[in-house]
Amino acid sequence: MKKKLINIAIDGHSSCGKSSIAKCISKEFNMTYIDSGAMYRAITLYCIENEIIFENAIDYTLLLQSLKKIDISFNYNIALSITETFLNGKNVEHLIRDSRVSDQVSSISKIREVRDKLIDFQQKICSKKNVVMDGRDIGTKVMPDADVKFFITADVSVRAQRRFDELKTNNKDLTYAKVLANLNKRDSDDVGRKINPLLKAVDAIVIDNTFLSFVNQNELVFNLIKNHN
Ligand code: DC
Repeated sequence: MKKKLINIAIDGHSSCGKSSIAKCISKEFNMTYIDSGAMYRAITLYCIENEIIFENAIDYTLLLQSLKKIDISFNYNIALSITETFLNGKNVEHLIRDSRVSDQVSSISKIREVRDKLIDFQQKICSKKNVVMDGRDIGTKVMPDADVKFFITADVSVRAQRRFDELKTNNKDLTYAKVLANLNKRDSDDVGRKINPLLKAVDAIVIDNTFLSFVNQNELVFNLIKNHN
């Protein structure tokens, strides 16, 4: 008998390991992983490169005119075993993780027309099924009918410590206090956004990984997926 294809939505706070869990689910269950945050980052990069964002100000008229020229796609790199993001045919996987983009992406992701374009694109991808997608509004707006929904969270001080440990070797000026302040700002931007804020879907399973190891979390998540009905 043919296996029933399902969609999985993962939402939650910044730096709580959503994408790591999503990647493990995609490997374990042979599903397509889509990082919706990468799409918001790609549009932000386009805005920076084309001076639609200049000295922290956004030229809205130019942004709205440009949206139809922005094409985002993903390609699985077999050698690296990762999915890479392409902006108008160019591989931008590294550029979209740059702090220039991270600093501006909240302002771009709160614009209605940007969200409408991306939600439309995300829903087209999900319609093919067998997708695990992570973000902030996946279980509430992008796939309200997802077969399994997770809402991942952890105490902000624990998230900040994990992020600080990850970044400190490559960034000697970084302090724990800076990382904590940045996470608090991102949480309040995500939760306070007027359009599609970060919200737990009523039928989402909450996973608080403050005191949970990555291995134990994967075991829990995999079992919940296997036992979903
Ligand atoms: O997951 P991330 O940190 O790479 O996301 C980048 C930004 O995009 C972050 O500011 C939140 C925003 N975002 C969003 O508004 N909706 C999504 N579905 C995914 C990300």
